[in-house]
Amino acid sequence: MSDPIRPIGPKIIAVANQKGGVGKTTTTINLGAALAEQGYNVLIVDLDPQGNASTGIGVVPQDRDLTTYELLLEDVSLADAIKATSVDKLAIIPATVDLSSADIELISNEKRSFLLHDALRQTAIDAFGFDFVLIDCPPSLNLLTVNAMVAAHSVLVPLQSEFFALEGLSQLMLTIREVRQSANPDLRIEGVVLTMYDARNNLSQQVEMDARDNLGDLVFQTLIPRNVRVSEAPSYSVPVLEYDSNSKGAMAYRALAQELVGKNARRAA
Ligand SMILES: Nc1ncnc2c1ncn2[C@@H]1O[C@H](COP(=O)(O)OP(=O)(O)OP(=O)(O)O)[C@@H](O)[C@H]1O
Ligand SMILES: [Mg+2]
Repeated sequence: MSDPIRPIGPKIIAVANQKGGVGKTTTTINLGAALAEQGYNVLIVDLDPQGNASTGIGVVPQDRDLTTYELLLEDVSLADAIKATSVDKLAIIPATVDLSSADIELISNEKRSFLLHDALRQTAIDAFGFDFVLIDCPPSLNLLTVNAMVAAHSVLVPLQSEFFALEGLSQLMLTIREVRQSANPDLRIEGVVLTMYDARNNLSQQVEMDARDNLGDLVFQTLIPRNVRVSEAPSYSVPVLEYDSNSKGAMAYRALAQELVGKNARRAA
């Protein structure tokens, strides 16, 4: 697409849920790739010491000399930390296991919650022409996730379509409220996206009903189906949109990107 609807300035979205394995990284990579495919310039910030987003998009460990760790703790510039990926218009700041010590190293730092915010400050990020910045958070409500929420305009919450899915959500909402009260009053909830949805499974449908009952419009219409192509793609170091462009998973992430852009265009209008 040559003329995408531009959001106003770069939109920074933290992809967060303290529950492990719910599809944060998968959503970051594939929503990022779908937005890039639709013509937007996208930056992924890997804020998880597991480095799954970096691996999944094909940044090999030898190429991770400058990472989010250096960006946060060693004053490395954004320009030096950003790496291109094999996907056009999709860049990444990778992470390594070094980031696991950041949580502790940051405790004595006065600006500990604002480091990512400062690193991504408007003028710096503007210079690169990014439309969207997606931050892949670790499965924890630790200082790294708080940094993401302080830096972000909104939080996107992947919710795995399984039993206990909504458990823990109140804690996440509480953290969002605390960040609003302390550091980032404008932080919004971008939405909740149901992942690994299995339409033939009553449990998935039950989780969807519960989520829509409890969260209303916050829940994206788009459902991300459980799709084996989605889980295979990272081992080929590409988003599912490249690995199997016509797969159900790829189509779903394209639809999610469109829904996200539509929501933001309406809000901006
Ligand atoms: N739609 C899907 N269909 C099939 N498998 C999926 C789908 N989404 C995610 N998975 C698989 O589920 C697992 C967990 O996904 P992912 O790594 O994205 O979760 P996460 O929330 O980032 O995990 P963590 O909390 O460890 O960071 C991965 O093996 C991934 O390939
Ligand atoms: Mg992850």
